[in-house]
Order: sequence, then C-alpha cells, then structure tokens
Amino acid sequence: MSAVFAFAEGADEAGRLAGELGVPCHAIEARRFPDGESLVRVPAFAETAILYRSLDDPNARLVEILLAASALRDGGARRVVLVAPYLGYMRQDMAFRPGEAVSQRVIGKLLADHFDGLVTIDPHLHRIARLDEAVPGIPALALSAAPVLSAAIDRAERPVLIGPDSESRPWVEAIAAPLGLDVLVGEKDRWGDRDVAIRISGIEAVSGRPAILVDDVISSGMTMLAAAHLLRDAGASRVEALATHCLAGADDLARLAAAGVERVRSTRSVSGPTACLSNVAILAGAIRRQGWAGSAV
Ligand code: R5P
Repeated sequence: MSAVFAFAEGADEAGRLAGELGVPCHAIEARRFPDGESLVRVPAFAETAILYRSLDDPNARLVEILLAASALRDGGARRVVLVAPYLGYMRQDMAFRPGEAVSQRVIGKLLADHFDGLVTIDPHLHRIARLDEAVPGIPALALSAAPVLSAAIDRAERPVLIGPDSESRPWVEAIAAPLGLDVLVGEKDRWGDRDVAIRISGIEAVSGRPAILVDDVISSGMTMLAAAHLLRDAGASRVEALATHCLAGADDLARLAAAGVERVRSTRSVSGPTACLSNVAILAGAIRRQGWAGSAV
C-alpha cells in the first residue's frame, strides 16, 4: 500500500507520477503562522509514503518535509521515501574557504536521519562518486535526466552539443551519444556567484550550425550567458539551452534571451517558465525497481 504525497507547488508533476505508478496522490496542507513557523497536515496515510518535493528554496522546504515525514510516521507509515527531483545544498560539497560548513554533508545526514529512501535527479556530485556518500545509510538514488534531455533534441538538425565546463563532459557525452551528435566541452573559471569566464577550444566547429548548451543546473544563468556569447561570436546559426534543473529568475532568463539564446528548456524538477520536460518515467521506473510502488491504498 503506497501513496504519493505532494506540496502545492509540485502537485501537478506528483499527480502524474502517482498516475504512472497507479497509486493515489494526496495534497499536503501547509501554512505559516504569523511568526513564520510552518504547520503541516497530511490528509491520509499509507504504509509506504512517497513524499514528492523538490528542494529548491530549500531552507523553507526542508523544515516542512521533516514535519510531513513525522506526521506520516505518526499515522502509521512504515517507510517514508523522499522524491526530490532537485536536491538543494549539494553544491557546497567542501569548505572552499576556512570556516565554511560543508552543507552537502550536513543536509545529506539530516535527510538520511528522517527518510528511508531518497530519489533525486542529477544531483551535484562533482567531488564524490555516489549519492550515498552524502546521504549515508539509506538507499539514495541519483538518476540521470540524460534520456529525457536526449529525447528533447531534434537530431535531424545536427546541432553541436556544448558542455560549458569540464565537469559536464560525461554528462553531455551521455546525452549526445544515443543521437550521434558532436560535442564540445569548455573550461570555466568562476570568481564569484555571477562572475564566470568560459573558453571552448574548437568552437569554430559551430559556425553555421545550431548549438545547444547543456548543463545540469542553470542557477544565475551566467555560465550559459558566457558560453552563449562565445557561440554567437563563433557564428552558430542558433543557440539554445537545455538543463535538468533551471533555478534562474525572470531577469536571468531575460539576459539569456537578450544574448540570443532562443529557447531555454528544463525538466519539471523545478517549476518555472522553462520547465517543460517530464521526469515521471525515470522516477517511476526507479521507484518500481526499489519495490516502493506497492499496491494502491
Ligand atoms: C557547476 O558546476 C554547474 O554544473 C553549473 O554550471 C552551475 O551551477 C551554473 O551556475 P550559474 O548558472 O550560476 O552560472
């Protein structure tokens, strides 16, 4: 007996996931007291509760998912699984300056203490090999959105796929390989949140061809912006961007459009104007393989 539980902002995609799994989907009620505290109420119970919530805007959402997990257990859930298509706090995976907290380790341990399983997509694991190193002691699944992004590319146009930095290489190659497309990978220097420089050797190959920038996450959009300028200067016939997660705000997206990025598309891991690609099939497949889908309540 399994069911999906969703907060308001992810209700549509959670409903599609529940439909794919053939289990019910219940809306979690959440409200804020005047002092900012959250109150969470779950309207139903299940032996296996699949809690769907992406952790963008993580500070507020983390508290609410811990409250929801507790309420689900109080109601009899024997297993509470978090499905967080976007898992925040994974980028601070080391102390870059003395005295900084290693947020990935802290938040990973917190989630491991409160959930029996975790499913996410393309988490930022640049310095560790496996998600369960950050989220220890529970099944912690890091899925790849590469099949979703590959399927969104029209191979007939023979675009060149561009990974903006060296960390993106395996990922860009995984997207390009099934389509047989050319790949270029840049080198990135970052000096601040919004201060990046990109070099792409061999960039002349994009001259007269469509170029698709692909990355795991668009945050400020500055990485895409710097790369887009290079591609336009190199004579790309068209530039677009594709990412698993898009956290960029309206101003960031407007800057990309002004730089000639014709289209930005991302998966529905994070809600927003670019979120048009569904992760439901890969999420449902992983949940089923773990035996968490059970039968409907
Ligand atoms: C970094 O390693 C990531 O893969 C992204 O390139 C980065 O997070 C994008 O950030 P922004 O959009 O702020 O440049």
